[in-house]
Amino acid sequence: MPEWTWEWTGYDPAGEKLRESLCTLGNGYFATRGALPECRAGLVHYPGTYVAGCYNRLESTVAGRRVTNEDLVNLPNWLLLRFRRRRTGGTWGPWFSPHPRTIMNHRHTLDLRRATLTRTFRHSDVGTGVLGVEQIRLVHMADPHLAALRTVFTARDWSGEVEIESCLDSEVVNGNVHRYRALNRHHLTGVRTGVREPDSIWLSCRTKASGVVVALAARTTVVAGRSLPPPEFRPVRHRAVHRLVVPIAPGRPVTVDKTVALHTSRDTAISDPLDAALDRVSAAADFPALLESHTAAWERLWRRADVQVPGEAGRILRLHLFHVLQTLSPHTADLDVGVPARGLHGEAYRGHVFWDELFVLPYLDLHFPEVSRALLDYRYRRLPRACRAAAEAGRTGAMFPWQSGSDGREEAQAWHLNPGSGHWLPDHSRLQHHVGSAVAYNVWQYCEATGDTEYLYSRGAEMLLQIARFWADLTVLDPGTGRYRILGVVGPDEYHDGYPGAARPGLDDNTYTNVTAAWVLTRALELLERLPAWRRDELREQLGLTADEPARWEEVSRRLRVPFHQGVISQFEGYDTLAELDWDSYRARYGTIRRLDRILEAEGDTVNRYRASKQADVLMLGYLFSPAELRTVFGRLGYELDDDIWRRTVDYYLRRTSHGSTLSGLVHGLVLARARRADAWQYVREALESDIADVQGGTTGEGIHLGAMAGTLDLVQRGLTGLETREDALWLDPVPLPALSEYGFTVRYHGHWGVGLRRRSGHLEISVPDSERSPIRVILADRAVTIAPGETCTLKLRKE
Ligand code: BGC
Repeated sequence: MPEWTWEWTGYDPAGEKLRESLCTLGNGYFATRGALPECRAGLVHYPGTYVAGCYNRLESTVAGRRVTNEDLVNLPNWLLLRFRRRRTGGTWGPWFSPHPRTIMNHRHTLDLRRATLTRTFRHSDVGTGVLGVEQIRLVHMADPHLAALRTVFTARDWSGEVEIESCLDSEVVNGNVHRYRALNRHHLTGVRTGVREPDSIWLSCRTKASGVVVALAARTTVVAGRSLPPPEFRPVRHRAVHRLVVPIAPGRPVTVDKTVALHTSRDTAISDPLDAALDRVSAAADFPALLESHTAAWERLWRRADVQVPGEAGRILRLHLFHVLQTLSPHTADLDVGVPARGLHGEAYRGHVFWDELFVLPYLDLHFPEVSRALLDYRYRRLPRACRAAAEAGRTGAMFPWQSGSDGREEAQAWHLNPGSGHWLPDHSRLQHHVGSAVAYNVWQYCEATGDTEYLYSRGAEMLLQIARFWADLTVLDPGTGRYRILGVVGPDEYHDGYPGAARPGLDDNTYTNVTAAWVLTRALELLERLPAWRRDELREQLGLTADEPARWEEVSRRLRVPFHQGVISQFEGYDTLAELDWDSYRARYGTIRRLDRILEAEGDTVNRYRASKQADVLMLGYLFSPAELRTVFGRLGYELDDDIWRRTVDYYLRRTSHGSTLSGLVHGLVLARARRADAWQYVREALESDIADVQGGTTGEGIHLGAMAGTLDLVQRGLTGLETREDALWLDPVPLPALSEYGFTVRYHGHWGVGLRRRSGHLEISVPDSERSPIRVILADRAVTIAPGETCTLKLRKE
């Protein structure tokens, strides 16, 4: 298949939900799954439309308990367009509905360059004849409130009429995730519909609790080679419907254009959403012009963000980039939204924001720093809430929630369902306080990559200092060892949420948590040093920072405990006392054991008893930090981390990880590539295939895995090049990965737009675009160069 297109042929009901996720079109403001326009939600299809950050909270009763969940709301379906036909003088046939036996030459083509989804098929009907259908849709990248669907009908061997029904449908629920079916799913209320002559219909409604008003307007026009009466409006409960009958004959194709505008009451620069939607749709250009402006907007995006890697890996990386940009585009910079773990592509994890931004922002920092900044602002606006959460837990500083939604309260559930056993189980994932370190890390990286000291000294400093404060306050001194400890947390490996048989949940001294906490405290101290005196005083006053706090940070950052056993870093205190799992026997019995936790629970056992991890935990440290920086962090803590310990640690956990998260392959791939290991590719490949091959078995149909998708881009950008932005220099330490030995991309660094990095035939080429800015300092393991604007430097890489 050509580099820029992805194709799906045939009609495979079982594979439709996956295809719909992968064919989602969006622009950062909203997205619509790649469902068939004639189908409403059912067992096969799921047409979802989501506006970034549009949440609603509902109460439900499950297993006798009242629970409250906040969800990213599935909004009215704008896509609906169905048809039926009749031969001249005959009766109407049934409304077309797809079936593997009657739909021929069915093909979807996702064109990444133009960001369009084209669908073609032929339908044969005994009463009439063969009808060719071609549909092309877009969700507009230049005007984020617009979408359009063009349908062209061609009669091959008959003449008659086609009746077209174009509809806006509010009879939708949040029904994408089967596991959530016992929960209340009806988020919309107050539906009103109407018509705006001559050719538009409208629908408005609001979310039940959050009261977000949503308005859609759809203009349906027909080009049929002759003038036609205007469409007929049909008042149907909860739907706005337009119907029109159009003559058709061989050589006289019928083109139907549906142009849709979507607004909510969260939008800026509008009066009211319905008025704005009607106004926008009536002013919208025709389909060819919309397609042109949309393609041009994407062309600008691709210029800023493309990644060139030859072969299949390159195609997949581009698809990943496409979905990242559809979820987080330059429009995101104007919104109050975070990084939704599953994109705007489905309803798994309810559109919540986890630590996954850790896998997304490092990539965006170097291409769309204004988007990164907006995503950090999402956290900043919820800093007061995080401080309140800490206070309620008896702590100072900021305790960011494991799952975040509209207002930054903890959205993680208290109970979750094991679909394997049907049991509702206590959910302790909210003890993953390491999410705070992810926020701090992203603040720091963003400022290093952009040189945006204004942010670092203002909002960034507030976040970093409050997170540091929380860590320092959470630690307890063990007088026996003189070490500080963090007790009762859960690490990135969510399998372990407590000690077997223990009365309280959580683990002690999770290495990842402790080491990142130490890193945050060190950065906070460094920041206090760097701040201009007036700002330091101002912050001290504003945050009520006492004089002895930095002294405690200093001490804690040097004496946090890291447990070791058998010459490897322990995932947490007591990891070595857990039983070994018989991996082979579980693999033999269950085939795929990615969700070992659920398997063991269904057997009446618990994964807490075993040395078995869902995903990288200790090894995450090797994802975040270069080997040199990691050695420094450990060194400051008084631990020597040499290559042998790290290698043994990598091997140890590799053997004990089930990869139950798409993040796992990604992290392992990067860590192994950095350790210059031949087996790196196996994990990188798994990360590349996460969504296209739906490796977690059915989860992609509920939304793409945005962290893994963005992470693979970062794997090339940062992992393979060893790129770091620190101390006002670009640090490079390219690692060999034979399957990805050639790549090229540009980054935006310290105001230089389009610094090029290209690796091919054993050489690394770095080019700095012409400008008035200062030269860039590039530091490699064995040399340092300064490259002036307008210059290109080609370095021969050492053979490894
Ligand atoms: C992973 C988490 C991740 C979440 C959302 C879970 O399966 O274990 O690390 O944050 O998915 O992507």
